[in-house]
Amino acid sequence: MNEAIRPGAENPPQALEHPVLEPGSGVPELSVVIPTFNERDNVAVLYRRLEATLSGISWEIIFVDDNSPDGTSEAVRRLAQQDSRVRCIRRIGRRGLSGACIEGILASSAPYAAVMDADLQHDETQLPNMLSLLRSGQAELVVGSRYIEGYRAEGFNKQRAGASALATEVAKQMLQVKVADPMSGFFMIRRDRFEQLAPKLSVHGFKILLDLVATARGELRTVEVPYTFGARQHGESKLDSMVALDFLGLVLAKLTNDAVSLRFLLFAMVGSIGLVVHLATLFVVLEIFKAPFAEAQASGAIVAMTSNFILNNFLTYRDQRLKGLAILRGLIAFYLVCSVGLFANVGVAFSVYDQEPIWWLAGAAGALMGVVWNYAMSGLFVWRKR
Ligand code: GDD
Ligand code: MN
Repeated sequence: MNEAIRPGAENPPQALEHPVLEPGSGVPELSVVIPTFNERDNVAVLYRRLEATLSGISWEIIFVDDNSPDGTSEAVRRLAQQDSRVRCIRRIGRRGLSGACIEGILASSAPYAAVMDADLQHDETQLPNMLSLLRSGQAELVVGSRYIEGYRAEGFNKQRAGASALATEVAKQMLQVKVADPMSGFFMIRRDRFEQLAPKLSVHGFKILLDLVATARGELRTVEVPYTFGARQHGESKLDSMVALDFLGLVLAKLTNDAVSLRFLLFAMVGSIGLVVHLATLFVVLEIFKAPFAEAQASGAIVAMTSNFILNNFLTYRDQRLKGLAILRGLIAFYLVCSVGLFANVGVAFSVYDQEPIWWLAGAAGALMGVVWNYAMSGLFVWRKR
């Protein structure tokens, strides 16, 4: 065992901060964290490549699998049975790239952690170089960048490259991020620095590196190394057009110091669409079907609540989308939540109007009360986290 890491009275805890770890000491110096979702056919290939590249380094690999239906975790377990440096954190009932990376890094005990895709798009031969940049103290974070000299985008289609470039520009301007490729999913970081930042990171979405850099506010010594973004081997990308929303949410949260959540804004936006739907239905039922006002108003409310539910299920809560029978149960819960919300709305509006008979102030206060209530209760009873 290495002298520097043997615990004992003469070795105070500070001595553990930058231990020199040698291969064979049994203690990893580098944890490679690999988030996986449906990557069964990639993990063994990646493992072999990493093993070849990292010879001479004391390493471990932590796969963080969100219970992939294709059996990725079994494929990892087979590797782990042959090599104890490999393990799998299997998360049940949860999804999310950022959260998976955070858990993986925090589960490691190595002083350095790398994050990379499982699909062989990231060039693992960069890892030793990245590690020496951290070891030497030149950097606290090393980013594998696709945008600086030496970059060739093999795995990128035109649209994707365009969208990614636009998002990168927005991030750089709005969050004052200096990194050339803050959207990269390939980086290595000192674990102690990561731990300081971890409590402030968002577990939702894809943009863990951007989140890290933005949260550190320039306090993270960063070096970028260019690499070739390869083509995905097996399986398909999990990024869809909705990542644009994730991205927006992250920028918003960072700009407002987490005061404004994208989910709430989306919920409120869907609520305003609901108002339009309500009025349109009211008009149609009154004017075309010539129904009495009470029935028309009730139909408007039901149609609006239903369309709000559908929109929220697809947009606001897309990461926890209800499916199958759960949709019906959710819809009924949503009706109940909104009905109580309506009482809250009217109650608040009345009491404000009592104090100050200004119709728009009372109306707005009531509406705000309603949306806050509906949002809070929907999160508890309709799209609750399992
Ligand atoms: N555990 C877990 N949970 N892993 C996930 C999830 C999830 O919900 N979604 C995706 N992954 C894993 C994939 O299995 C893969 O190993 C890695 O995360 C990246 O996902 P891909 O689906 O391969 O993303 P990509 O190649 O299209 O996107 C790349 O570029 C993005 C920037 O444009 C990646 O490098 C991203 O990390 C990067 O943000
Ligand atoms: Mn990929």
